[in-house]
Amino acid sequence: MVDYNAFLSTTGRELHESAIRKMGTLGVRIPDLVSFAAGFPDPVTFPWEDLREISGELLSGRDGTVLQYGPTRGYKPLLDAIVDVMAARHVRTTTEELLVTTGSQQGLDLVGRVLLDPGDVVLVELPTYTGAISAFKNVQARLVGVRQDADGVNLDDLDAVCQRERTAGRAVKLLYLVPNFQNPTGLLISLQKRRQLLEWANRRDVLIVEDDPYGVLYFDDVASEAETRAIKADDQHGRVVYLSTFSKTLAPGYRVAWMAAPATLSARFELAKQSMDLSSGIFDQRVVHQAIRRGVLERLAPRLRDLYRGKRDAMEQSLRAEVGDALTWPDPKGGFFLWPELPDGLDGDQLLERAIEERVIFVAGSAFYVDGSGQRRIRLSFSHPAPDRLQEGVRRLTSALKPAVANRSMQTR
Ligand SMILES: Cc1ncc(COP(=O)(O)O)c(C=O)c1O
Repeated sequence: MVDYNAFLSTTGRELHESAIRKMGTLGVRIPDLVSFAAGFPDPVTFPWEDLREISGELLSGRDGTVLQYGPTRGYKPLLDAIVDVMAARHVRTTTEELLVTTGSQQGLDLVGRVLLDPGDVVLVELPTYTGAISAFKNVQARLVGVRQDADGVNLDDLDAVCQRERTAGRAVKLLYLVPNFQNPTGLLISLQKRRQLLEWANRRDVLIVEDDPYGVLYFDDVASEAETRAIKADDQHGRVVYLSTFSKTLAPGYRVAWMAAPATLSARFELAKQSMDLSSGIFDQRVVHQAIRRGVLERLAPRLRDLYRGKRDAMEQSLRAEVGDALTWPDPKGGFFLWPELPDGLDGDQLLERAIEERVIFVAGSAFYVDGSGQRRIRLSFSHPAPDRLQEGVRRLTSALKPAVANRSMQTR
């Protein structure tokens, strides 16, 4: 027998499996499962007709470059279109600053490879996105948590943690943030705090990694487009590496996303990407480019906001009807997630075991914390299930919760 462990590199040995992907395998094993685990878009939003038409035209065979290798930076007309997408987000960029990536997940991986050495510090919120945790841990970075307020990362704690790490002789390089409708909490960083964060990053010589998959998906009963203004929009000194994606707006299957960074860094990201995949799929990029050019994305955006706002309402209403005040959560102002706090004495991982027996899954909160905490939180994604499945899932979740909260407010409903 070959001892493959002996062949693994340090990185290979320490690769981390995403907690959310792991849950995905349950869907295959358990029939009739309702999943509140993955942050998948609702497939009813996919613009099938437009995509069929665009793909048909591209695949007519008239243009051989459609299925050819593409440039590492990205398909130039798509890069030009992204310059306009960024302008609509109040960010001025040039194509020298942009790089098309295979999902924002690849962007996070590139950030890790190009900017981090083992032991370098990345400051992250408590909680933060699991995909960023894996990407940065895979290059053996040291992830250090910062407390969070209702309007995002706590500035006092941020500075204290940064200074503490520096005093201990460690290189604090990055602050990773999801300012719009954070995965997993749904929180929105206030405009004032965004400006303060930029000022802080300049003062403390730290780069901000601004990850923005959900900014377009604000719920207009509680948030406005103005409140989603990118931190990068006010970045006078080149402090921000910005990532966004077409995954949550057009379709994640294309795996088309982008990053915008100061040109010197973008050139480095491009070199790193060359050795990973040469380029992202050119056909996918051309479909996305046409979808932008033909106004498909622009037409979709208001429908997406309405649909997901409705799904948020549906999940909140059925949870309140089923469990009363046994669960509480911050009101999400956009995005895909509810972030309930569990009653005293109940643990997210234990609840998940009972929930699996009831054929419903979610992500236990501990997956989002780099300090080992989060046991009393769970992340429920309302984006994917159809309305009847959403209600059924909440009923099953309630059955899983029942033994633990039998004597609490569930009985008062
Ligand atoms: C905060 C955050 N960043 C990045 C991603 C990855 O997106 P993509 O599909 O573009 O790889 C996600 C996906 O859920 C996300 O929630």
